[in-house]
Amino acid sequence: MGFKEQIDISRLPEHIAIIMDGNGRWAKNQGKFRSFGHESGVVSLKDVVEGCSDIGVKYLTVYAFSTENWNRPIEEVNLLMELLISTINAEIVTLNKNNIRLNAIGDIASLPQKCIDDLKHAMEETSKNTSCTLTLALSYSSKWEIVQAAKKLALLVKDGKMDINDINESSFSSQLTTVNMPDPELLIRTGGEHRISNYLLWQIAYGELYFTETMWPDFMKEDLFEAIVDYQKRERRFGKISEQLN
Ligand code: IPE
Ligand code: IPE
Ligand code: MG
Repeated sequence: MGFKEQIDISRLPEHIAIIMDGNGRWAKNQGKFRSFGHESGVVSLKDVVEGCSDIGVKYLTVYAFSTENWNRPIEEVNLLMELLISTINAEIVTLNKNNIRLNAIGDIASLPQKCIDDLKHAMEETSKNTSCTLTLALSYSSKWEIVQAAKKLALLVKDGKMDINDINESSFSSQLTTVNMPDPELLIRTGGEHRISNYLLWQIAYGELYFTETMWPDFMKEDLFEAIVDYQKRERRFGKISEQLN
């Protein structure tokens, strides 16, 4: 029996977040350029998005480029931006066919203008789609996001539009880039590293973490289904004890 058949559809995670890591090492292991790894990573992303769509996952949020990734060699940064542009433009038709809405989080204004324009266009073209929301985290880091949320709340209080006592977990969440999305129940990291690398720190406070040695270009929908099966075997206690759960 494949992993897909083992999934209990009534207990699917509503939101899955992925740190798509390992493109460079995957390519290097085969004596190829890192760019080949990134291009192959796009194939995995398309397959995983299709997998989410097949089983009915409502939100998929993928780490595509971190704030820290700006520190990579300029050639690699440029290549990633070009790959982003060509992928977004090539995928609009498929996204619409599969009823998937494209969304982006992060410091989008820091991206090259062509990226901003094409991203905006693709988001508008897919804005009416309802089966799944695919969010690309671009120039994203969680500490950046939390600081900008704090600033927005401070401004509301300063301008007399909000009482300081109304700052709570819910109003804080509403200033994050993931507003209107449930927190991810499952966070997957490929590529063998056991770290979070500044991703969705607030949102994964109670998320289930799944680490795999598989490099991102080798990660396909069947691997996603395997991660979901693993997730469904876990007992989420949220501070309680087993006997309190029904
Ligand atoms: C993840 O793969 C993709 C991005 C960070 C853009 P890497 O490029 O980090 O690949 P490794 O970790 O060096 O193998
Ligand atoms: C995390 O991968 C960011 C993305 C996958 C976009 P990195 O390869 O940049 O992470 P670190 O620096 O090794 O932690
Ligand atoms: Mg990496």
